[in-house]
Amino acid sequence: MQDFKNRTAVVTGAASGIGLAMAELFTAEGMNIVLADVEVEALESATARIEAGGGRALGVVTDVSDDESVAALADAAYGAFGSVHILCNNAGVIVGGASWENSVADYRWLLDVNVMGIANGLRQFVPRMIAAGEPGHIVNTASMAALTTMPFSGVYSLSKAAALSLSECLYKELQAVAPQIGVSVLCPELIDTGIASAARNRPAAYAGDGDLTETESSKMIHDAVTEHTAGGLDPGVMAARVLQGIKDEKFYLLAEDFWKDIAFVRLDEIRAEANPTMVYGEQ
Ligand SMILES: NC(=O)c1ccc[n+]([C@@H]2O[C@H](COP(=O)([O-])OP(=O)(O)OC[C@H]3O[C@@H](n4cnc5c(N)ncnc54)[C@H](O)[C@@H]3O)[C@@H](O)[C@H]2O)c1
Repeated sequence: MQDFKNRTAVVTGAASGIGLAMAELFTAEGMNIVLADVEVEALESATARIEAGGGRALGVVTDVSDDESVAALADAAYGAFGSVHILCNNAGVIVGGASWENSVADYRWLLDVNVMGIANGLRQFVPRMIAAGEPGHIVNTASMAALTTMPFSGVYSLSKAAALSLSECLYKELQAVAPQIGVSVLCPELIDTGIASAARNRPAAYAGDGDLTETESSKMIHDAVTEHTAGGLDPGVMAARVLQGIKDEKFYLLAEDFWKDIAFVRLDEIRAEANPTMVYGEQ
């Protein structure tokens, strides 16, 4: 897809971080922008800011884990702008912890938001995008945690590995059925966003009755994510990577070389059938 002006982009998780940066950059490209997020006040202020800058923006309160909510988002987007050309399934949350200590609620929350959130986006938007027959692009946000693994992050890694696999299948399916619609998977490194405070959006349904995981290892990962994302890249770098990736029709939007090298260690281990090593611990 090369032509952005007056086309429409839908971005989930658009009230903060990487999603907000994508919404701002798409707006700068002259696109209509639909911002979807579960955090109401942040969504309202992000939408208002884009509109105040002259952008054509629609904010839709959306819970990506809820198929009906995403269906309502699609209706709102098509109702407002008539067509959708770019869909960024970006909303995501994180928990840490030893895989045997994470609660059922931890697993369900991450799978519902990080995986079903993408699935719901695909189910509600892709049939309409195919039917329109116009050029389009879908960007799913995974993580470098999909391509390598670190201890005490198993729930997050499994959700992002699922996002990566689903994206690869989607790419192949659309190449076969509707090649005018491109697909990219964004695998960010450490980015300075609100991800460390993801629990701010954890619904009561996933947090009830002492089902929150508060272990040494979950606290350690929380502290590490807080510290390292605070010193991470600006989310605008991700938005620029996404825009360029769409223009270049590039599927894998990977992190900088340091992170790629870590991911390649794992590929080498798989090729050699060697046991996994603790790459992060050696840095
Ligand atoms: N920041 C990083 O270092 C990093 C690294 C790799 C991958 N990622 C991924 O990038 C994506 C964006 O995260 P971010 O870093 O910008 O964090 P962020 O917390 O700043 O933004 C995430 C947004 O998603 C929204 N959200 C959470 N649950 C939702 C739900 N159920 N429905 C709709 N919206 C929901 C939040 O309200 C928030 O606005 C996520 O998928 C995350 O896993 C981030």
